[in-house]
Amino acid sequence: MTTAPKTFHVKSFGCQMNVYDGERMGELMAAEGLTPVADADAADLVVLNTCHIREKATEKVYSDIGRIRKHAAAGGRKPMIAVAGCVAQAEGAEIVARARVDVVVGPQAYHNLPDLVARAAAGAPALDTDMPPESKFGALPRRRRVGPSAFLTVQEGCDKFCTYCVVPYTRGAEVSRPMGAIVDEARALVDAGAREITLLGQNVNGWRDADQNGLEALIHALDRIEGLARIRYTTSHPNDMTDGLIRAHAEVEKLMPFLHLPVQAGSDRVLKAMNRSHTRDTYLRLLDRIRAVRPDIALSGDFIVGFPGETDAEFEETLSLIDEVGYAQAFSFKYSPRPGTPAATMQDTVPAAVMDERLQRLQAALNRDQAAFNAATLGRTCEVLIERKGKLPGQMLGKSPWLQSVHLMTDAAIGDIVEVEVVRADPNSLAGVERVRAAA
Ligand code: SAH
Ligand code: SF4
Ligand code: F3S
Repeated sequence: MTTAPKTFHVKSFGCQMNVYDGERMGELMAAEGLTPVADADAADLVVLNTCHIREKATEKVYSDIGRIRKHAAAGGRKPMIAVAGCVAQAEGAEIVARARVDVVVGPQAYHNLPDLVARAAAGAPALDTDMPPESKFGALPRRRRVGPSAFLTVQEGCDKFCTYCVVPYTRGAEVSRPMGAIVDEARALVDAGAREITLLGQNVNGWRDADQNGLEALIHALDRIEGLARIRYTTSHPNDMTDGLIRAHAEVEKLMPFLHLPVQAGSDRVLKAMNRSHTRDTYLRLLDRIRAVRPDIALSGDFIVGFPGETDAEFEETLSLIDEVGYAQAFSFKYSPRPGTPAATMQDTVPAAVMDERLQRLQAALNRDQAAFNAATLGRTCEVLIERKGKLPGQMLGKSPWLQSVHLMTDAAIGDIVEVEVVRADPNSLAGVERVRAAA
C-alpha cells in the first residue's frame, strides 16, 4: 500500500486542449487539498498528461516515466505516477503492463482523478478511460487564478477521420459544450484575471448550440462580457468555416485578426488520400472570402510532409500553396504512421531522408513568410496585451493582435493593454515602443 500523496505536479505534452486539461487537473487536485510543486522530481504524485499524435510524442512518456522513477529512487522516494491524456486513452491497460504506473485516466474521465488516486493509494487498480455521455466539465471546480491569456475548451472530439490521425479515436465524437456553461466559465476566467480567452476545440468552428447556431453566436455572447478584451479560437477545419463565422471577423472588434486553418498539403490527390474532404482550390477560395472581410488577418496552418505516396511533384504543390497564401506562422511535421489509422497500412511510404529534405524546404519557406509577415508590421502601431516580464529590468513581453511576440520597455503591468509602435521586426518576434496607455 502506497500512502496518499500530499504534493503533485502535472506535466502536459500535447496540444492546447491537452494544456487546458492539465490546468483543470491541477485545479482539481488543489481543490482536494494537494499542494502543487514546480519540480516533477519533488512531487508525491506526478501526472503525465500525454499526447498520442505522433510516435515521438508517445514514446516521450515512457522515457519520462523511467527518468522520474530513477531520480526519485536516488532520493529514496517512490512517487505515484498517473498517465493522463491521449496515450492513456489509446493504450489504457497496456501502459500499466508496460510501465507499471499507478493511475491511467483518459481525457474524458479526468474529473475522476481524485478517486483514482485514492484507489491507487489503497493499492487497488485505478484505470478509467470511459467516455461518459455526461460531460466531465460540470464536475470540475470553479477557476480561480489565471494569467491574462486563458484557454477555454468549448468543443471536443472529431468526426472528420483524416486517414493519418488518432484524434477521433482518443478524443471521441464531436461534442459541443452548452453556451451557458461556457459563458459562465468565461466570466469566471475574467474574474480570475483573464483579458484574452482562446476558445479551444479539435474542430472548434464545428461548435453548435442546442439550436444549431454556430461559433459566431458564442463569440457574440462573449463579446458582451465586460473586462474581456480579446477573443481567439483554435483549431478550425476548413469545411466548418461558415459565412456567419467569417462575418464575425468583420463585426466583432474583440475577435483578433488571426486564424489557424490547417490545410496539411497542397495536392488534391494527397488531400483526397488524407480524407481531408476539401480541395486546394476550395481552401484557397475560402481564404479569399475571409480576407475580403478582414484584409489584415494573419493566417496560420499545419502541414504534413511525406504522407504515403507523396511524390516530389505533389510536395512542390504544397510549396506553391504556401507561396500563394503567405502564412504568418505555421506548424509542420513529418508524417508519422499511427497504429489503427487507415494511413498506417498504406503502401508507398516515403523514405526518411526524403521526408527530412522536404521538411527542411517546407520550413525554410514558412520561415521566410513569417519573417516577411513580421517585417510588414514594422512602423505600425498596434495594441499589445502584456503577458509576462522580459529578461531585462523594465522589459515586458506581450502579444500583438496577430499573435506575434512583442517585447518593450514599459511600466505597464501584466494584463494591461498598451499601444505600441513596432520599431524592429525579427523573424520570431517584434520590438516595440510604448505610445499612449489604453484605459484598462
Ligand atoms: N484538428 C486539427 C488538428 C489536429 S492535430 C486539424 O484538423 O487541423 C494537429 C496537427 O498534427 C494536424 O493538423 C496535423 O498537421 C498533425 N498530425 C496529425 N496526425 C499526424 C500524423 N500521423 N503524423 C504527422 N502529423 C500529424
Ligand atoms: Fe485529426 Fe483531421 Fe480531426 Fe484534425 S480534422 S483532429 S487532423 S482527424
Ligand atoms: Fe495530442 Fe491528444 Fe492533443 S493526441 S494533439 S493531446 S488531442
